[in-house]
Amino acid sequence: MKQIKKEDLNKNFIYPIYEEDSVHTSLCDRLGYDLNKVAVKTNNEITVVHTLGKCPFDKIIFVGLGTKDQMTTYALRKTLTHVFASLKEDAVLWATPIVYGNHNIDDIVRLCVETHCLAQYQEQVIGHDAKERVNLDILADQDVNDAIAKGLAYAEGINLSRKLADRPANLMTPDDLLEQAQILAKDYDLELTVLNKNDLMDMKAGGILSVNLGSDLPAYMLCLKYNNNGDAPYHAVIGKGITFDSGGYNIKGNSFGMKYDMCGAANVIGVMKVLASTHAKANVYGIIPTTENLINGSAYKPQDVITTLAGKTIEIVSTDAEGRLILCDAITYAQQLGATHLIDMATLTGACVSALGDLYTGVFSNDDEFCDEFMEVTKACDEKSWRLPIDDEYFAKLKSNSADFKNSVGKMGAGASVAANFLGAFVEDSTKWIHLDIAGTADNDGSAATGVMIRSICEYLSK
Ligand code: BES
Ligand code: MN
Ligand code: ZN
Repeated sequence: MKQIKKEDLNKNFIYPIYEEDSVHTSLCDRLGYDLNKVAVKTNNEITVVHTLGKCPFDKIIFVGLGTKDQMTTYALRKTLTHVFASLKEDAVLWATPIVYGNHNIDDIVRLCVETHCLAQYQEQVIGHDAKERVNLDILADQDVNDAIAKGLAYAEGINLSRKLADRPANLMTPDDLLEQAQILAKDYDLELTVLNKNDLMDMKAGGILSVNLGSDLPAYMLCLKYNNNGDAPYHAVIGKGITFDSGGYNIKGNSFGMKYDMCGAANVIGVMKVLASTHAKANVYGIIPTTENLINGSAYKPQDVITTLAGKTIEIVSTDAEGRLILCDAITYAQQLGATHLIDMATLTGACVSALGDLYTGVFSNDDEFCDEFMEVTKACDEKSWRLPIDDEYFAKLKSNSADFKNSVGKMGAGASVAANFLGAFVEDSTKWIHLDIAGTADNDGSAATGVMIRSICEYLSK
């Protein structure tokens, strides 16, 4: 993907156009008729005009944008996704006509480039080469190479996350996640700390170790360190890395889609790649607790009492509430490293899916200012998010007779808030924390990972 000059136009020409604008007269002159009578300018309408040798390019693909006052970046992303996803041949996009309101050409080009790469992504069919993406060049009146680079960097981080998450669980084990973290660390010169089972036993990280008991594969706590802001305090981005969630002895009736229970972890890898490739001015730990949640003769059981890294004891009510058990150890570890702000991402609860579906990510926080600021960014990034309550009265439902508290209430009701409360119990008062329940938004109902929240988190951390 690159910027080109008018003289180099020789491919399909994508011409976005608002209702209030007219097709450039030179094009009408060349073709010998009024293209305004042909191009449909209502939003999301595509009109293809064959140039029959009268232009250096074969086709003009008009993309209707509707009116400028109704345009939003959210709508623009949708319209462009529709165009780019169906693009079969290389093309040039004329970006200049898209500029509207207070958005400049750099914003627009960045959005277009990112949208193109995301729209062209396809899950790899195992045993076959990954699909090549159709190339898109950008025509603009001024130098937009930095904007192109930024759009590409974000899309490549997001697509890496989608690629890892889309891989089936037999090909994306904790060892595979470790390998991906190693590749990233090597490519971008990041520091990687790998805590293996022995390290986790020495630390007494009983949350993640308990979940790992039922799996024949190792567990890891991975920590990537990105330092590009001197001595400034660290944010930690934490992602749930359950490479397959069977439910354990509380076995799921239907575990379709549970290869996506590591989307939080994949997103951490995506975030770290974007930060490093854009040289973001930030200090960030990317932390991934990872294991399978399976069943064997050693697996943890309902009513077991385990001791977490923080020293708190937990009565296991459901072995299917495993995400919070690996995350609580990761949250404690992040604070041991000195992180002052935490953002965790987890495909944590079916309750969040019921409440918000695949549209909104559930947001929970112990700090209004941090939360408001972050949610402003999610809005600007066109990633929908909705804050849900954390409340002591939800936490009270986790009262246990055999341990400090339980890992699940054992009955329906406010499951996403209860889970957030569980995690919140491991967050110190001085730590600012946001929990993102991405159970509904990380994939599309058991297929097609989205890389949701990578854009928002990177944008927030780059500020
Ligand atoms: N990974 C699941 C949550 C999930 C469900 C993600 C559906 C995506 C789609 C999580 O580990 C889980 O099983 N949660 C339980 C918690 C319950 C036992 C308290 C749930 O939501 O049912
Ligand atoms: Mn589960
Ligand atoms: Zn899970």
